[in-house]
Amino acid sequence: MPYTLTTPLYYVNDRPHLGSTYTTLACDALARFQRLNGKAVVFITGVDEHGQKIQRTAEARQLSPQQHCDAISGSYRDLWSRWGISQDRFVRTTDPRHLQLVDQFFARVKGSGDVISGRQTGWYCVGCEEYKDDSAEAVDPSCPIHQKPLEWRDEENLFFRLSHYQSQIEELVARDDFIQPANRRQEVRNFVAQGLRDFSISRVNVSWGLPVPGHEGHTFYVWFDALLGYLTALLDDGGPVALERLEQCGWPASVHVIGKDILRFHAVFWPAMLMSAGLPLPKTVFGHGFLTREGLKMGKSLGNVLDPERLLERCGSDAVRWYLLRDIQFGDDGDFQQQRFVDLVNNDLANTIGNLLNRTSSMARKWFADAVPPHTDAVGPHHPLAVAANTAVTTVLTSMPSLGFKPAAEAVLQLAIAANGHLNDTAPWSRMKQPGKEAEVGDDLYAVLEATRIVGLLLSPLLPELSTRILEQLGTSINPDGWTEKLSWGGLVSGASLPKPSPVMQRLELEESL
Ligand code: MSP
Repeated sequence: MPYTLTTPLYYVNDRPHLGSTYTTLACDALARFQRLNGKAVVFITGVDEHGQKIQRTAEARQLSPQQHCDAISGSYRDLWSRWGISQDRFVRTTDPRHLQLVDQFFARVKGSGDVISGRQTGWYCVGCEEYKDDSAEAVDPSCPIHQKPLEWRDEENLFFRLSHYQSQIEELVARDDFIQPANRRQEVRNFVAQGLRDFSISRVNVSWGLPVPGHEGHTFYVWFDALLGYLTALLDDGGPVALERLEQCGWPASVHVIGKDILRFHAVFWPAMLMSAGLPLPKTVFGHGFLTREGLKMGKSLGNVLDPERLLERCGSDAVRWYLLRDIQFGDDGDFQQQRFVDLVNNDLANTIGNLLNRTSSMARKWFADAVPPHTDAVGPHHPLAVAANTAVTTVLTSMPSLGFKPAAEAVLQLAIAANGHLNDTAPWSRMKQPGKEAEVGDDLYAVLEATRIVGLLLSPLLPELSTRILEQLGTSINPDGWTEKLSWGGLVSGASLPKPSPVMQRLELEESL
């Protein structure tokens, strides 16, 4: 059974921002980890291209919606490739295959008697593409997320009979393995406990959407269409668009990774839609937190949006990946602070890991003929660094499947700190001057280099580029096959040649604000 994971399908109303980059980097780390761990992975990302928000954005740019979508979708694709994202599928909801899938799905839901006509009145936020809970009497209500006025709507629509799934959804969200992390569950449980109301799945005033078969003038509500994009992506394996094939293509998803603002859609509406269509439910929905910048919400009005293009160009992928994954507990909100970012990257990556490798390799080359030093049995599994490596490996292997990027990154860093400590305590540079100490120095340098090899390997899912450079500097294979076996202590071969050292991580020197 493949491991299927998804990012949200991002709205193409604007260029990619740091929020979407954050989710995508986290999913990339998870996808890489599962592949290294021997799983067949389907990593899905893509874009959500319909709806009123996008229609209006295109109008404002004086482009046709399709031209606008082509341009922004292209910039997402391009950005992910420059960040080194390893997605297996990139789905666009304007793909003609998606239309076929939506029609099939709708036919099933209709067949279950879950499509009914009704009248929708309420306050709508075009930014969220969502009806809000404000009462009909509210005066000039606005969206707390977008800080824009809500629009009053009163229209005849088709509804999905969500109320029919009340008890099944209650049971689902009561489970402890469905919504992650634990602190996000209560909010959803409260929402469900209030009683689920049917929700409208068609629009009569939005032309930029997929037509509803048999209902002239209606287009599908963007969320109905967007969630189905996950299924279209899975079926994009060269075979036909047929819901019957889903289970052999990797459905149900192991995890949908999303921001906390769209949890309700994924943990309540989506499972009910799937039940109605007779399809299995995703195993987990993980709602991560929001990023702020220096304590403030990022937004156009404050002019403080962090541009992922600029971050990448100025700082490189490893630095940003490290900061976001190592500093923020995935699930919690996080604050991007430039000084802390620079300090962590320089201390952890350039000094603790980069310098460790550089100076150890230089000493080994100088005293042991440009090669990995010989070692005695003293560097066996009971050596303090072998024990430290074992702890790091165990922590990474147990934290990553539950999206514990921070504990995993910290464990790798602890190993590098232990290796630095060993080097400082044993001071090979002074002992090498004493006669007869060569074997001990060989042992110490070997142990530190071996710990560094394991650091390099463990970094592979988190910082793939730095990992490759570390392993290259050690003259070892960067072939990911047999990753877990390679994590055993003692893999570095004495006598193997060590390439000329060059810094694996540049220090960040940022004089300007990003
Ligand atoms: N199109 C829908 C998703 C449909 S999924 C079938 C959508 N798109 S979005 O582009 O608006 O948002 C995508 C993701 O970015 C959401 O998960 C949202 O939580 C996340 N973020 C937006 N701003 C963010 C931050 N400032 N910080 C972290 N993530 C944030 O919603």
